[in-house]
Amino acid sequence: MRGIMISAFAPGRLELIGNHTDYNDGYVMAIAVNLGVTIQGQAREDNTVVLRSQPFGEDTFSLDELKKSGDKPWSNYFRGVLEQLQKAGAPLKGFEAEISSTLPSGAGMSSSAALEVATLLLAQKIFDFEFGDIHDPALRVSLAAMCRAAENDFVGVKCGILDQVSSMMGRKDHAVFIDCRTLEVQQIPLSGEVCFVVCHTGAKHMLLSSKYNQRHSECMEAVKMLNMNKIEVQALRDVDVETVKRNAGIFMERVFRRAMHVVTENGRVLAARDALANGDILALGKLMYESHESSRDAFENSTEYLDQLVEIARGLPGCLGARLTGGGFGGATINLVYRDAADQFMTDLMRIYREKSGKEPQAWKLEASDGAE
Ligand code: GLA
Repeated sequence: MRGIMISAFAPGRLELIGNHTDYNDGYVMAIAVNLGVTIQGQAREDNTVVLRSQPFGEDTFSLDELKKSGDKPWSNYFRGVLEQLQKAGAPLKGFEAEISSTLPSGAGMSSSAALEVATLLLAQKIFDFEFGDIHDPALRVSLAAMCRAAENDFVGVKCGILDQVSSMMGRKDHAVFIDCRTLEVQQIPLSGEVCFVVCHTGAKHMLLSSKYNQRHSECMEAVKMLNMNKIEVQALRDVDVETVKRNAGIFMERVFRRAMHVVTENGRVLAARDALANGDILALGKLMYESHESSRDAFENSTEYLDQLVEIARGLPGCLGARLTGGGFGGATINLVYRDAADQFMTDLMRIYREKSGKEPQAWKLEASDGAE
């Protein structure tokens, strides 16, 4: 080992509202959570990277030939970010790194983006690339874009930019609103009366990345159909609900429903941003329920277990809104809950769900937190 030990931390994120809107150039609102990935590392004098990770194990590779790993998929998030840095001309050398995480993986809080963002910041700190002021929001958003590119191009998931920007741009007690086309970010204060409870269904994700990519292509198909019918748009972001409805006949039925979800969801995110800005948490909660219904019925990325969790939450005292969060097809729900009711809410939600589903859920009470450092 050479050099001094350096550390970087990146939080996970929770999608408050805006389901599958990000890669459609739309709007989304999230928080960075108070759980995340820490990487500690130090420079070596050769071009070898040595990773140690709990619970995944070890990996060693050379920077001279960055290839996708078949047997250590977790390492690809790391490798992908290093490849992006190389492409950007960053003078990378070998290093040793130890990864640890307080983020439960598969629980809908994007441990993958946290790993990407922490990797990038660690490398930046070790090798001191001249990117500019790391606290400059514009730089942070562009670094988030590099992490997203790593996931799109190297890992092969066609995700949008929500996870990486939230991890970079989170702020304590604030929601992060992202315009995924302009990459404009607003940090909006959250009411101290409420907090967020995440509840994992205890059921495994079902073919997440292939179903996710399938939804991505259905949205791209919707754009293609619009363009073929002389409605010139770049993305579903450019279309309103009326236009999609009026042109229902040009889409396959399934693609029509996907498009309807995205365009109505964009409207809900904008309404949710206004609700938060006006301190109207009841309106925010209502929009979250509506978002879930649209994901369930039109985008079809919910599961019976996620639906059960949302329905149970709806009947419990102190709950203002509930919906699936993140990619869907399994994972977790997010619940907007009065702070003083949160502990009882968690206990009741898990107990009733356990009885109904036979699954073993897990729940966390989370706070909006600062971004990566
Ligand atoms: C995953 C992706 C994000 C976003 C959400 C759904 O978390 O990584 O980019 O598309 O799903 O909103």
